[in-house]
Amino acid sequence: MKHKNTIKSRYDDLGGSHYDMRYTDEQQAKYELILDELPDASLVLDNGCGTGLLFPFIDSTLVGLDLSGELLRTARERSTDAQFLVQGDSEYLPFRDDVFYAVVSVTVIQNLVDPRRLPVESARVAKLGSTVIISSLKRVYGKVEDITSIVENEDLLLNRVFTDENINDWITVSTKKQ
Ligand SMILES: C[S@@+](CC[C@H](N)C(=O)[O-])C[C@H]1O[C@@H](n2cnc3c(N)ncnc32)[C@H](O)[C@@H]1O
Repeated sequence: MKHKNTIKSRYDDLGGSHYDMRYTDEQQAKYELILDELPDASLVLDNGCGTGLLFPFIDSTLVGLDLSGELLRTARERSTDAQFLVQGDSEYLPFRDDVFYAVVSVTVIQNLVDPRRLPVESARVAKLGSTVIISSLKRVYGKVEDITSIVENEDLLLNRVFTDENINDWITVSTKKQ
């Protein structure tokens, strides 16, 4: 059984500058695929934003949520006036239903105590018809079906999965069902 405090401490102890040194190139390769799928949306949630590596690529108003205060400290330095930060839990998002025009969650789901809650919560806070992009580490979810079976639920229609060999994640693209 995973413990949320252990996961939070792991990222807090790593710290933002070490996170960026270790993961910037890997994450940016994923963003290249993701950004092509992300429509122009007036309010985007980066669910598990870490240090905000995605922020410079998003023109819309953005909310970045993460469990780790340390990584959020780096995200704050990177954020613009239209990018807002919330310390919180992806399994229990502190937002009302139907508020975001798009939700993105890159390499977060494999950290969760109950991974099924991330697609459920992402769909809950997304507006009807909006895009929900969730990626997961291939080394944790060995087969693509291991992740699609978690992402697909009564509110999310799976449209596409990127399985590119040179990317470390499966990247799922879904729509919140009307
Ligand atoms: C591999 S990093 C990915 C960060 C960011 N999405 C990126 O592309 O660089 C995983 C992130 O998930 C966050 N995380 C882990 N469990 C979480 C939870 N229950 N709620 C919110 N964030 C969580 C960690 O703090 C960390 O920032």
